[in-house]
Amino acid sequence: MTSNRLEVTFLGKTIKNPIVAASGCYGYGLEQPELLPPEAFGAITLKGLSATPKRGNPPPRIAETPCGMLNSIGLENVGIEAFAKNTWPHLRGLGVPIIANFFGDDETEFQKAAQMLSDLEGLFAMELNLSCPNKPQWGRILASDPKVASRLVRLIKPLCRYPLIVKLSPNVASISEVAKACEDSGADALSLINTLLGMAIDVDAKSSRLGTRFGGLSGPSIYPIALRMVSEVSRAVRIPIVGMGGVSSPEDAIGMMLAGASLVGVGTLLLVNPFGVEEIKQGMLAYLDRHGLEKVACLQGRL
Ligand SMILES: Cc1cc2nc3c(=O)[nH]c(=O)nc-3n(C[C@H](O)[C@H](O)[C@H](O)COP(=O)(O)O)c2cc1C
Repeated sequence: MTSNRLEVTFLGKTIKNPIVAASGCYGYGLEQPELLPPEAFGAITLKGLSATPKRGNPPPRIAETPCGMLNSIGLENVGIEAFAKNTWPHLRGLGVPIIANFFGDDETEFQKAAQMLSDLEGLFAMELNLSCPNKPQWGRILASDPKVASRLVRLIKPLCRYPLIVKLSPNVASISEVAKACEDSGADALSLINTLLGMAIDVDAKSSRLGTRFGGLSGPSIYPIALRMVSEVSRAVRIPIVGMGGVSSPEDAIGMMLAGASLVGVGTLLLVNPFGVEEIKQGMLAYLDRHGLEKVACLQGRL
């Protein structure tokens, strides 16, 4: 059972609870309604979309690691046109705020994707993914150079009909510098963190356990890093933050909010324990009772 004690305000909208499905870990929101209904979330972020379909990386694309996993999906997706035709009509009616995550292999593709998503009726927000694995060199510069990130946000923002959330990569020297550059360039909110670049080796085969050399690390092992980055960024900017990275328990979600997140993203948890979302919400309510607090919104801090 939940109540409006979990309500939060984000980008001018009342969201019924602060838990958001992180991009790539809940598909397009329609794949597992019996196990984890879309209505469980305060909002859903869709798997990354691009203007044209992408094939993604060669398999294997997932490797388990201690307290987490590596993935190298490579942003496979059907493309925005097919999504708009086949999936969006079913998603729209759910009544859950939908955030469309998008990317491009270059500036033109980013612009095209922003325009195509803006043509959809009824999105809540658009999330620009600054980590771009298909063009590794440009992708790395884009994610980590405040000037390059700023240029892209300035190009994209005027094309967006919906609020623009910029998703930051942790694979950078100073995440707060990139965050500040994005805020100054017009981002309405930030989300962080994306996966950390990692590697796993099959020592018998003497090769990477992924089809690519490196992959993105997610899950509980990255939580302390995510928490530190959310805390750091929350002191550097004024715009709201969606905090994510390894959140797996009510305590983790509460910690994210105390560190400065307005909403809390859950990704890898959904692949391990789909009931975890309900457990987090119940745990948050119990915490409010224990601490004599009326609403979860009271937790939002900048620790
Ligand atoms: C299988 C998988 C696919 C992902 N796909 C995307 C994606 O398409 N776009 C994106 O911005 N982030 C993507 N992510 C990153 C997650 O949204 C999230 O930022 C990251 O996994 C950290 O959160 P977690 O530890 O709760 O999973 C993906 C993560 C995983 C594990």
